[in-house]
Formats: sequence, structure tokens, C-alpha cells
Amino acid sequence: MTASPIGREIDRVDGRPKVTGAAEYAADHDLPGLAHAVVVTSTIGRGEILAMDLAAALAAPGVLEIYHPGNNLGLLTPPQNMPPPGMVENYAPLQDTAIRYRGQAIAVVVAETFEQARDAAALVTTTYRTDPPNTSLAANLPGEDAPGPLYNVSVLAPGVGSIDEALAASEVVVESTFHQPIQHHVAMEPHAAVAEWNAAGDRVTIHTGSQGTFATVQLLQLRLGLPAEAIHVICTYTGGGFGSRVPSWNDSILAAGVARRLGRPVKLVMTREQVFTMVGHRGQVDHTVRLGATRTGVLTAVSHDADAELPNVGGWLLVPAHDTTDTLYKTPNLHIGQRLVQLDLPPTWAMRGPNEAPGAFALETAMDELAVATGVDPVELRLRNYATVAPGNGKPFSSKHLADCYREGARRFGWSARRATPRSRTDGQWLIGMGMATAIYPGNRMPVSVSVELCADETAIVSTATSDIGNGAATVVAITGADRLGIPVRKVTARVGDSTLPPGAVAAGSQATASTVPSVLVAADDVVTALIDLAVTDPRSPWHDGARPVYANGRLHGGGHSATFGQLLTAVGRKSIEARATTQLAPETAERFEFHSFGAHFCEVRVNRFTGEPRVTRFTTVVDSGRIINAQAARSQLIGGVIFGIGQALLEHDPLELGTGRLAAANMADYMVPVNADVPDIDVHWLDRPDPHVDGLGARGLGARGLGELGAVGSAAAIGNAVYNATGIRVRETPITLDKLLEV
Ligand code: MOS
Repeated sequence: MTASPIGREIDRVDGRPKVTGAAEYAADHDLPGLAHAVVVTSTIGRGEILAMDLAAALAAPGVLEIYHPGNNLGLLTPPQNMPPPGMVENYAPLQDTAIRYRGQAIAVVVAETFEQARDAAALVTTTYRTDPPNTSLAANLPGEDAPGPLYNVSVLAPGVGSIDEALAASEVVVESTFHQPIQHHVAMEPHAAVAEWNAAGDRVTIHTGSQGTFATVQLLQLRLGLPAEAIHVICTYTGGGFGSRVPSWNDSILAAGVARRLGRPVKLVMTREQVFTMVGHRGQVDHTVRLGATRTGVLTAVSHDADAELPNVGGWLLVPAHDTTDTLYKTPNLHIGQRLVQLDLPPTWAMRGPNEAPGAFALETAMDELAVATGVDPVELRLRNYATVAPGNGKPFSSKHLADCYREGARRFGWSARRATPRSRTDGQWLIGMGMATAIYPGNRMPVSVSVELCADETAIVSTATSDIGNGAATVVAITGADRLGIPVRKVTARVGDSTLPPGAVAAGSQATASTVPSVLVAADDVVTALIDLAVTDPRSPWHDGARPVYANGRLHGGGHSATFGQLLTAVGRKSIEARATTQLAPETAERFEFHSFGAHFCEVRVNRFTGEPRVTRFTTVVDSGRIINAQAARSQLIGGVIFGIGQALLEHDPLELGTGRLAAANMADYMVPVNADVPDIDVHWLDRPDPHVDGLGARGLGARGLGELGAVGSAAAIGNAVYNATGIRVRETPITLDKLLEV
């Protein structure tokens, strides 16, 4: 009997190639005849190219060609009625002379070596007509009657005329305005692509990091004017995404365009600085949360208004109240008003908890302010306002054990030792504070196909075109296949990251596990049925024409015979047998329930009373995300999410130079992300209660919901709330840097 690997500590199936350097990321691919492309970018924020002097660059050693608006690549603009991510970028690179943002691609220099291309690119000089870019969020607010974006909500109790009336009638009101600055994904692997066309020039193979090979194919086909079958995307290994690899950016678009025109394979690697501008960033948001409550902290009105950056070149429709403020607490009156502000800035895109991380910082900070205003303990305040149905639409949750997350988190963390009054605990020059906040993220699912193949060599291959961006997706696939087939994980090969595999999940929206697991289960069951069919139909099988054998743990038994699947396949002269399954959530189930994952964060900080320096010293997170498939990967994802929260709360922002549209910290030296010294031991725990509805397979299912983004939601608020408890200073504009705490 093979013990089930589900929920155990399983090493990554791709761990060895990753730590030995054998794993090939996009830019590691080398091909015969490879040419190297380097992008030249605009140095103004808006205007037009008047002239480009290319003579010196063209004469430089090794230069093969320069593409620019006067010698363009014939790239196409996707239709603008496409759903995201088709909306970025809404023009074709190098097709015209317009400058839409600072850092936009204006030319590509191609040479025999990377160094030759880089040096020649530095010789290109460009003359512009410069127009003043609109870059200020506050100065470009849409009018009151401007069409709002998605997800505005208004729920009012009978007899209540408006949210303002509901707030005015509340015994206690908290009103706070928050600013979320521009942030960046900073994935380990810089964006890069290697493109190679076939001899006829009608099919292209692209190695590029991708969060979804199908999304990449879909966007590239629109850029290149090709049918989907003509594009093969391979991303066996991808060095992080956090949202930045959902759309296709100039690395893959230009590499494919240049390789087609040049008739040679082309490698294009963005510089780190280019990744900060040419790849979408997390947009800035100004948002105001107003909470009305009784004196005992029972919510009577909840309002969240947001103005978020939407670049004119397109980007993520950032709606921070969606799936946070519209879902989290019970309230008779709810108002969500979200607007987008169009600016001449580089594109934006979803970044880990794209709406939810900024949204939860605002809501969960405001809830802490309400706890202070009412004198109710922050955990108790959340329990008093616990939603058993979604407040926006009244639907029940598929599975919700958030109350136990609060209780278990408080117990593990030692919340009862907290003192409500700020500055009550000190240790020498350090002020010590504790804070908590809620985590919430949608329990998404999408249609996914998986194939399971049993092989004569006693191994199995589970294939699906999802991407393993470092999240452990390949290992989840292997574990689930091994569990259902009853064989060891090491006997299962997971194939992922290739658009020719069965259509798989995007590694986005925290949905790869929840979407892939049910399809692996069904495909595994189907291949076993096919194996048994083979056993009774093939004349060379010992079960031929007899009673159907029973399958267990990689073996068929019955009628006095026993054989492993490999032995049976060998006996009948087959190399393998395969089954393919597609599952998705039934529309009626999706309609009936609200699917969300939940969690509770608890944080201790120390703030230096002389320098204002904040340090996170303890962190406990307890989540409810259904069944856990791999304890090791789940812990790693949740810890990574909390580290994202540390960055959001204390370090990350890219200041914008309003006059020029320049992002002032668009490089890894100036943009601060947490390093090991910023991160304490993070205690992560989960309830491990299966979601009965998420698989749609009844008792056959495992009940796993996603958790990839969950840890990044609310963790920054827990830190900010702990800073307040330590110092009595409430910072509503992240990051909470020491200068904001100097009055300590
Ligand atoms: Mo993630 S921001 O859902 O790609």
C-alpha cells in the first residue's frame, strides 16, 4: 500500500535541475545562427519622434539590422474589444512615431553578439517633439458622471436614501484615505524571449517565461497575424511571474517580429531597467474607506471609493474594493465606487493580489481604526461583523472557516498578550506592537485538460500546459497523479509549460491547483478504466475474456492473476496507454456559491524610538484554503505572500517624476524589496478543511482552493496595524518608512 502523498512535505520534482543550474530559462536557450536584439527606449514621457540618427549604430561592428518606425516589423495592434490581457499594450511597437510613455520601445538593434547589439544601441540618437505628459493621479480625476469601471456596488437597507445618510446615522464613523504607490513585480528572471521560425516562415517557436502558454499564444497570434497553431510557446522553467507574465510584452513580440524579418533565430533579453517600464507595474491608487458602526462595533455602513491609475496604453483595471470590501464583512449598507484615471505612463498590470492587496490594506487598516474608536479588540471586531453570506449579493460561501483562522491564529501568536494602548510595551530603545488583519482572495477555477499516460516502464506521465512559475505546479500535478494511481511520486513525470500540451490553467488568479487537480483525478481514473478494458479485451492478457480485474496501487488483480500496469502493457505489446480529461466548475455551482479563500495574519513589530526604523519581528498566518496538496509548497507560497506584504508595508514604491513621467526607482538598486534581513521566521498554518464544492466531483474530489496570492493580501495591513500599536502613529500612505515614524 502506497501512503497518500496528499498534504505531505514533498520535494519539488524540478528542484534538482533548478538548484544544479540544469534548468533552462528563456534566455538560456542557444540556437545555431542566433542573433541578439537590444531594445532602444524613449527618453521623453509624451510626444513624437522627429528623427533618428542610426548611421553610427549601423556602422558598428557586428550589427545586422535596426528596426524602427521607418523600418518597422509589420506588427499588429490587437482588437480593443478583447478581454484582458489583450488591452496591453493597445498599439503595435515600432509601428509609428508616437511616444506614449517614458521608456517605450522605439528601435531594436540586432547584431551577431549581445555586446555588439548593446554597444550599437547606445549610438542611436533620437530627436523628439516633447509634449507634457499627464502623469498626476490627483490632477486627472474623471468627472462625477464619467463612466465607472467594473464592480461598483450599492446596497442600502430599506428606507435608507444613500450611503452618506447611513454613515451620518451611525454612532461611530471612521474615514480614512490611503495612497498605494507604483510597485513592481521584480520576478527573478528578467523578461526574455528566444524566437525561431521554420524555413517557410509560417511557424514560430518561442521560449519565453509565461504564466499561461495559451494566453501567450493568443496574444502573439494577434500581434503576428498568425493562426494559433503556428505559434509554439515553451516555458518549461519560468523564474517568477506575480502577474507580470500573464500578458506578452515587447520581449516576445519584438523577438518574434525580428526573427521573422531577419530569417534567423533571435534572442531578446530586457535589461532590468527595461523590465521596470516595458512590463506593466502595479498602478497607483488613491482610495477612501468610510466605516459606520454602533458603539459596540457592529458595522452599519461600509463605503470604499477608489481612483486608480489606468495608463493610456492600457493596463489592469485596478479595483481595490472588489473581492475585499464588497465581500468581507456583514453590513446593511454597502457602497463601492471605483474609477480609473487615464495617464501617460508605462502600462500597468496585475501584481500578486492585484486588487486585493491594496484593497485589504485600506479596509483592514480602517477596521483597526474602528477597533480603536470603539475600544473593541480587533479580532473580536471582525467576529462581530462576520459575513456568512456575501454582503454584495447574499450568496453563501462554498466553504468558509475564517472564524477558526482568527481563533487559531490568535492562539498560536499569543494575541492575548497584546495591550490595546499604543506604546505600552518597550524593550530598551524599541517600541513593540502587535497587529492583525484578514486575508481574502477569490477561489477561482478555470477549464483545464490533463492527460495521464501509464507506461510499460512502470512510470506515469501527467501532462497539462500550465506553467510552473516557481509555485510548485509541476509537483502538484505529480502528487495528484501519484495519489490517484496509487504509485510513488517519483514514478510520475509531470509535463508542463508547453502550449502543445493539453490546454492547462494559467498560473494566475491563484487557480492553477484548484483547476488542475480535478482534471488529474478524472484523467487518472479514466486511464485505469482504459487499462482494465485492455486487460479483458487483449488476447495476450491473462484476464482476456474473463471477469474485470481490480486496480490498486499500480497493479491489477483478480481471477488468480496479478500484474503491474507495466507488466500488462509489456504482455500486450504496448508502450503506454493514455486518457485525457477536461473539467470545469458547473455553471450552476459557480452561480450558487461565492468561492473565496481566507486567512488571518498576526504580526509583531519593533520600532526604534530614536531612528523610527520599523522591523517585523514575528508573523503568524493561518489560512482556510480547502485541502492542501503539498505542505512544503503551500508553506512556501504563503511565506512568499507574507514577504510580499512586508515589501508592500515597509519598502516598495517607485516615485514618479510628474513633469517627465519618469519612474525614479526603475532599477534593482533603487527599488527596495525585502531581503532575508527584513524577514523573520514566518509561522504558517492551515486548517486543511476540504471545500465540498470547488472540485465538482463530490466524494471523488480533494477540495483544494488556491492560496498563491492569499498571503500577500492583508499582511501589509497587519504590519501597519502593529506599527500603530507600537507607536500610536497611523500611516496610510505606504511604504511605512522610518521618516514617517520619526515623531516617535
Ligand atoms: Mo496573478 S496577479 O493573478 O497573475
